[in-house]
Amino acid sequence: MLQEALEYSLQIIARNRDEVSYFPERWENGAWISAEPNRIPSHWVDGFWTGLLWLAYAHTEEPAYEQAARKWTSELAWLKTTTLTHDLGFIFYLSNVLGHRVMGDDALLPDALTAAETFTQRYNPRGEYMQAWGRIDGTNHERGRINVDLMMNMPFFYWASAQSGDPRYARIASGHATTSRYVLVRPDGSVSQVADFNQTTGAFLRQETHQGLSHDTCWSRGLGWALYGFAEAYRWTGNVAYQSVARRIAEYAIANAPADKVPFWDYDLLDEDYRDTSAASVIAAGLLELADGESDIALAQRWRDEAWEITESLWQNYSTRGTDIPAILVEASRSVPHDLKDHPLIYGDYYFVETLIRLQRPDLTEKLFPRQIVAGA
Ligand code: GLY
Repeated sequence: MLQEALEYSLQIIARNRDEVSYFPERWENGAWISAEPNRIPSHWVDGFWTGLLWLAYAHTEEPAYEQAARKWTSELAWLKTTTLTHDLGFIFYLSNVLGHRVMGDDALLPDALTAAETFTQRYNPRGEYMQAWGRIDGTNHERGRINVDLMMNMPFFYWASAQSGDPRYARIASGHATTSRYVLVRPDGSVSQVADFNQTTGAFLRQETHQGLSHDTCWSRGLGWALYGFAEAYRWTGNVAYQSVARRIAEYAIANAPADKVPFWDYDLLDEDYRDTSAASVIAAGLLELADGESDIALAQRWRDEAWEITESLWQNYSTRGTDIPAILVEASRSVPHDLKDHPLIYGDYYFVETLIRLQRPDLTEKLFPRQIVAGA
């Protein structure tokens, strides 16, 4: 099954490699929609396309993938000095950093390190959090918000400390992760997407949502970002509080999944509703990250079995096989409250392929997903 799914995914990646002329984000009405050119935050998705190309090259060693991965990676360089997105981690970790891991080419490093330095400007040392959305000189409300998506940007900071030897990036990542653990993860392992702070004092005010059903429910892709983000933060820091919170989130996801393992877009939807296959992909990849850092052998097996079952369900029930759609998975939901739903999404495809490679190529896992304890964390 894994081999078949990966071979099919590679056919789709190769087709897009030869056909797309802009970064794909979601497939709608017969075409890939890309980031709106003048809206920098919408470029948060661009690294998933480079990420797919680097993974395809690492697995196949076909030069056409390397060529394309380098071309699209170089097209992201302009974002390295922008302070207008909280997703510089997503963008540069899956382009320059992944490319460096695959190729060992140091020419890919400077842009990523510049982006990490730029990214530090979103840190609020009083509240010990990274600012979500908005301008860094924006309103108090803008400067006082975090989201759970940011947890998935923190590994980029840990990598920057490991690469540069400068502990500042790791300190920021751990400040933000510790704050997120307290204010975003609930005792039952469900996750709030957003938290508001008084940006002047740093005091926590309330939980909110942006893409979930309500402020006190659990947006499923947000849970995925938290699971993977904390699991990876644990492996860069050795801080067992991060492992423990990732385990709690994983148990919630398992206990609250529908029978076919692919969640609805929010965990409080108990009846048929829109799925989010991208959430399922992120959760599967996050479970493998948790398993790879797991000290308890039985738990490691539990996380791996669950990742396998989610992946199998995605492949059996939600692939584009039999259609002419140049994406891998159907039925993702970018944001149901914003009426963006039931479409393929490039990030769903990226984490699906990452999971397939991690399950099938243990020989590549250490090369593509290396972790080490970093100073300052
Ligand atoms: N980080 C935005 C999203 O997951 O939709």
